[in-house]
Amino acid sequence: MNKTVKLLTLTAMASISLAAADFITAVKADKLDAAKVKLENVMLYPQTTIGNNDKEATAKMKGLKALSAKAGVVFNDKEMMVVVKWKDATNSKQKEASTKLFGDAVAVQFPASCMEADKLPYIGMGSDGRQVSVLLQKNVEAVYPVAENADVTMQQVRQNLNMFGDELKKKEAAQKALASSKYNKVFVAEGFRSMTEVKDAKGYEMSMTYKAGEWTAVFKKPLNDEYSKACDVTPMAIAIWDGAKDGRNGNKWLSSWTPIQMKDSPKAKADIAKITEKSKGNAANGKKLASENCAACHTMGDMKAPMAYMAPDLSNIGGYATAGYLKESILNPNAVVVPGYNKNAHPSGVWYNVDDKGARTSTMPAFDYLKPNEIDDIVAFLQTLKAGVK
Ligand code: HEC
Repeated sequence: MNKTVKLLTLTAMASISLAAADFITAVKADKLDAAKVKLENVMLYPQTTIGNNDKEATAKMKGLKALSAKAGVVFNDKEMMVVVKWKDATNSKQKEASTKLFGDAVAVQFPASCMEADKLPYIGMGSDGRQVSVLLQKNVEAVYPVAENADVTMQQVRQNLNMFGDELKKKEAAQKALASSKYNKVFVAEGFRSMTEVKDAKGYEMSMTYKAGEWTAVFKKPLNDEYSKACDVTPMAIAIWDGAKDGRNGNKWLSSWTPIQMKDSPKAKADIAKITEKSKGNAANGKKLASENCAACHTMGDMKAPMAYMAPDLSNIGGYATAGYLKESILNPNAVVVPGYNKNAHPSGVWYNVDDKGARTSTMPAFDYLKPNEIDDIVAFLQTLKAGVK
């Protein structure tokens, strides 16, 4: 075996052992116990669709590799529990009132209702008319409760407390007793920046623990409530932020919709096939078509648009978009308009217009005149666009 062949074989082996599972089998058990889940590999890719206002933080995302996490689910008639594990060399904690130190964080996302497997909400926190719920937890330094406690002095740091000696000590002890290091919240969203916290969410429990270079996050939620529903196949997406890389907001790793199989039914099989579909098109021809039709606006890996973010950067789109979504994006750009256009980070393009009823229309033309096999080829090419594993 010559060197290249050996190297190729090794790479192939490495990618087999890390290959993402097509779906997660939810384990049914009367009592929910994190040890009962069947963990599967889920790959997460650097979110490159939009840039962040903080250019320094976005620069830290450059060249980032994919992140291999593990996830599993256990459920009973009332609730479900999701376990997510991933390696992180540093345990980064968000410091109160710091704009420079960010905490590690993790979120899971579910569609609000059971829907057609090829019409799932936009992966980046849903889209108009396709609502999601997001369960988010962050590793934060203990902070004083803000809403619960009307006493503002409980939120003041020592320098701002006009107290000394025993009085100061007493105050600080009282603050410490009230402090909570928990940041776990439930949101509903219909697109980036539309996240709304659900303050009365009941039956949700979350925790994240760091041990030996690995995070384990647990999310417990009602099986069905007004924010999300359990289906034969419940699609779930995972996001992970690395505080050491200034990770926050869009600067994160993101998985594609990952099917959680909760029932062994023909519909479940069909849904899994749809969500994890790989285009049978010719990727090489797709690349050629993309350079002719799409590269004027989109950056796609080595193919660079004339200016950054004239349109979403598709360099990792194969990592977090389904084939169904990609096809829909090409044929009917208005079906889902990427809600994240950011004037500050990328003033070089307008991504959509808003009509007098407030509806957004994409500035991307529909490519519905391309032949079906050409669309398949482009989708096959887009599915190859994703970072390698670190
Ligand atoms: C005139 C500029 C332009 C051209 C040409 C163009 N697009 Fe787009 N595209 C956009 C804009 C702007 C958006 C964001 C608004 C939206 O979601 O429609 C977008 C969105 C997308 C998305 C969704 C991205 C995401 O992150 O979810 C995909 C996929 C896409 N385009 C693929 C293509 C492909 C494939 C082609 C070529 C066949 C193409 N585009 C040609 C401007 C363009």
